[in-house]
Amino acid sequence: MAEPYTTIDCDVLVVGAGGTGLRAAVAAAEAGCRVQVVSKSLLGKAHTVMAEGGIAAGLGNVDADDSWTVHFADTMRGGKMLNNWRMVEIYAKEVIDRVFELERWGGLFDRTEDGRIMQRAFGAHSHRRLCHVGDRTGLELIRTCQDKAVHTPGVEVSMEYTLTQLLGDGHHVTGAIGYDRNDGQFVVVRAKAVVLATGGWGRMYRTTSNSWEGTGDGAAMAYLAGAELLDMEFVQFHPTGMIWPPGARGILVTEAVRGEGGMLFNSEGQRFMLEYDPQKKDLSSRDVVARSIFKEVKAGRGTPHGGAYLDIRHRGAEYIKKKLPSMWEQFHSLASVDITREPMEVYPTIHYTMGGVRVDPESAATRVAALYAAGEVAGGLHGSNRLGGNSLGDILVFGKRAGEYAAEYAKTVGSAPVIADAQVAEAQSDALRFLAGDGDATGENPYLLHEALQDAMQDDAGIARDQQSLTRSLEAILELQERAKRMRVGGGRVLNPGWHSCMDVVNMLTVSEAIVRSALERKESRGSQWRLDYPDLSEEQGRVNYAVYRDGELMRIRAVPLEPIPVELSRHLEDG
Ligand code: FUM
Repeated sequence: MAEPYTTIDCDVLVVGAGGTGLRAAVAAAEAGCRVQVVSKSLLGKAHTVMAEGGIAAGLGNVDADDSWTVHFADTMRGGKMLNNWRMVEIYAKEVIDRVFELERWGGLFDRTEDGRIMQRAFGAHSHRRLCHVGDRTGLELIRTCQDKAVHTPGVEVSMEYTLTQLLGDGHHVTGAIGYDRNDGQFVVVRAKAVVLATGGWGRMYRTTSNSWEGTGDGAAMAYLAGAELLDMEFVQFHPTGMIWPPGARGILVTEAVRGEGGMLFNSEGQRFMLEYDPQKKDLSSRDVVARSIFKEVKAGRGTPHGGAYLDIRHRGAEYIKKKLPSMWEQFHSLASVDITREPMEVYPTIHYTMGGVRVDPESAATRVAALYAAGEVAGGLHGSNRLGGNSLGDILVFGKRAGEYAAEYAKTVGSAPVIADAQVAEAQSDALRFLAGDGDATGENPYLLHEALQDAMQDDAGIARDQQSLTRSLEAILELQERAKRMRVGGGRVLNPGWHSCMDVVNMLTVSEAIVRSALERKESRGSQWRLDYPDLSEEQGRVNYAVYRDGELMRIRAVPLEPIPVELSRHLEDG
């Protein structure tokens, strides 16, 4: 029999309260649904804020010849043509309206002299395209969406909940189960439709811009519920994270520094991007810039702490403090570096995951009925490499679509789904098995397993990989999965971080296995996947995505052929 639990009834459950979740919640509530948003963290605290430099949208405010078609072509090329073309088309067209909508909702932007939204240059965008407010655009986006969501009738928010499982029968979801971390009480959310908006996963790597929430819970839960995970091999190393001091390692240094004219140098004073990409230079795509820094350091031309110099001093103190105030503050307070007088030291940091839950491009529906996914947790839009600024747009465009389609589906469901007591009891005992109670607390320590996983991923499935390293990584993951079955922590259910970590470790292990299996399957270098043993593009593998799915207890992988791009769209790829 199940332990006592609270039941929340809603039409649409939105899991995650970053930009995607909030945008989806507004859309579903405006369609007339009762919406329950469940947040792992506090409202307003999400990885959305780490997209600092702007929202990519072909408004043409600064470069008049920009348009959605050029944005479409840049995004496809940036993803090395592995993107779902229809998602890119929808994105490039609709993001323009989403930016204006955000403006109407009160979002602040820097302005051109004639009062239009200001746009800046960013890596591999052929025009100045990123709508921004200084270097805190993600923060402004989430602040605006949060304000809109809490004032939209029908939206309820629960914070600091850990959801442990989606409920359903493998073909259809009926809600989710988890617990309130503040009192340890179990909660069952019964929902007619569920939108996953849980973001990405960086925490299985040692160096990441993700904060503690980024453990891949949504992808792991979707996989277990029967959804497929697409393009999992593609994990984005943002070229510029902080490298020093150790406590700040991995924190993002926005690409806006380079967008505003910042340049990368090695320890010999060479501007190395002139060699690696003479056309786009420091504003090459992220995969190229990250690899270039890695190569310079490997070649012995790194900075004292093992990175590259990023220098913006030539723009002058006034300009820097106006356009990059957060960067100035971040280096000043965390590293005692005044970026108006000294160069920054930077090194690639795991920032974003291109892969994710496989969804229908129009509706964000997964192959599991009633389950939708959007934003970073979904795959398909970015192909093998995301262009900076395309995530803030993604979350607005597909967050809205996911909310609308989930609402439409929910309205077709007559009454609240029935959730069997036995299913709840099983999910509860699954979560509770990690608590030793008064018994034996000498099992495996989740923190040590997490550390071992970070070693396996950072060292062997990192920016440069090959068959040997990936095989080593997979073996380590499989062994850690066995050890994870024996994780035990002391203490009870109330505010017990050790217990939460057990859940996180299980999810990270599932997602890591998917990353490494997919990386082994793709025997080529494309976008963020740099295989030292297969350094070139493969024509054959350029025609498929890889999808991971669950077959009983086994993780399997299959090649999914790319849909051909319609002639009228492929014309845009030929221009420029
Ligand atoms: O560098 C940045 O500001 C990050 C932007 C993004 O990931 O889109």
